[in-house]
Amino acid sequence: MPNVAIVGTQWGDEGKGKIVDLLTEFADAVIRFQGGHNAGHTLVIHGKKYVLHLIPSGIVRANKLCLIGNGVVLDPAALIEEIQHLAELGVTVNSNLFKISAQANLIMPYHRELDVAREKRKGKGKIGTTGRGIGPAYEDRAARRGIRLSDLLNRQGFEAKLRDNLAYHNFMLENFYDASTFAFETIRDDTMRMANILAPYIEDVGQLLHEVIGKGQSILFEGAQGTMLDVEHGTYPYVTSSTTVAGNAATGSGIGPTVLNHILGITKAYTTRVGSGPMPTELNDAVGEHLGRVGHEFGATTGRPRRCGWFDAVVVRHAARVNGLSSMVLTKLDVLDGLEKLRICVAYERNGSQIKNMPADPSVLDMCEPVYEELPGWKTPVAQAKRMEDLPPEALAYIRRLEELTGVAISIISTGADRDQTMIIKNPFS
Ligand code: IMP
Repeated sequence: MPNVAIVGTQWGDEGKGKIVDLLTEFADAVIRFQGGHNAGHTLVIHGKKYVLHLIPSGIVRANKLCLIGNGVVLDPAALIEEIQHLAELGVTVNSNLFKISAQANLIMPYHRELDVAREKRKGKGKIGTTGRGIGPAYEDRAARRGIRLSDLLNRQGFEAKLRDNLAYHNFMLENFYDASTFAFETIRDDTMRMANILAPYIEDVGQLLHEVIGKGQSILFEGAQGTMLDVEHGTYPYVTSSTTVAGNAATGSGIGPTVLNHILGITKAYTTRVGSGPMPTELNDAVGEHLGRVGHEFGATTGRPRRCGWFDAVVVRHAARVNGLSSMVLTKLDVLDGLEKLRICVAYERNGSQIKNMPADPSVLDMCEPVYEELPGWKTPVAQAKRMEDLPPEALAYIRRLEELTGVAISIISTGADRDQTMIIKNPFS
């Protein structure tokens, strides 16, 4: 059975949550492989809304193995809160079906404080992070002082690591950032209490996946954020701190890349971005306002309004290359309903010459102007269409042009938040 990796092709918020939920029907296991609770995946099932930050969206379906891989940074307090939130909605997080990698690094309270203090210090030049401590936790991982989930099962080892980390971070917080410091005992006791709750979920997730593959079962790899927020391939330094592209589906899960059969890029019919950094097609006019209002473009994690703009084919072509996309899902097509004319950015212009591919130095983007192509809009709501043939001809032309410009076929079209508002042209699991 095929294994499919889902990645965002823009700046996140492409609607991955809905598609992961939809395709989970065809998978036996779903795994998150990077990021943390900076992500926010909204699902609407039969009118009931679920917002998930850490646990794979597959949790709302019965009998699916839901996993958090080694590539994720995990805030234990946020995870426990999410488990409780799901319980309130009637979804039980069963320890036979939900497992977290023992190798995942923890987000500690001092990481959150550092994240916020750094942003404050940067002032106008801030990244606009979610303030969840994601960056500082990944830094600790790379610096080889991070605390892993497995450390929670070894109290002595955990205490030694915590002491070391606190000595370093408290010094920085107090002397460099003029921010609050943390008491060893408080963090130790809080973390040990949470360790008791999380212990049944801790597992060697890479080995578990290996066994799932051995049984010929299918896996869905659930990416968070998007290609343009990738720490290497995005608009650095205005990015997140993890590798959001498809290659990390393997590294962040503990299996090899040869198990990935289909790389599915999730692409919104227009562009949005939260936080600072370049966004060539951003609109500060009535169309931008329409996209934000009709598309409900507010961050699922922070509630911040998203910046909105026209579809940027340079961005998605870049995503096609760095992810090796097999096909795409086009989401939120319905948000374009009723717009008189549509624009697609086909290239950038700088000093009189055209740039067709994403510049290796993203700071150049600030000096670029988008080159637009104009297409007619449509009046009939696309959500009424159940098959491709039912779509207004202008919508069909828009879809075909996106495929031509990006070089990637569209396999699924989403025309609304509900599971039913979806057209599957070719199932990536088939
Ligand atoms: P961080 O991941 O909190 O460090 O934030 C770094 C950048 O990534 C900021 O611009 C955030 O707005 C952005 N970001 C992080 N997670 C998401 C997400 O799930 N969707 C959209 N943007 C995100």
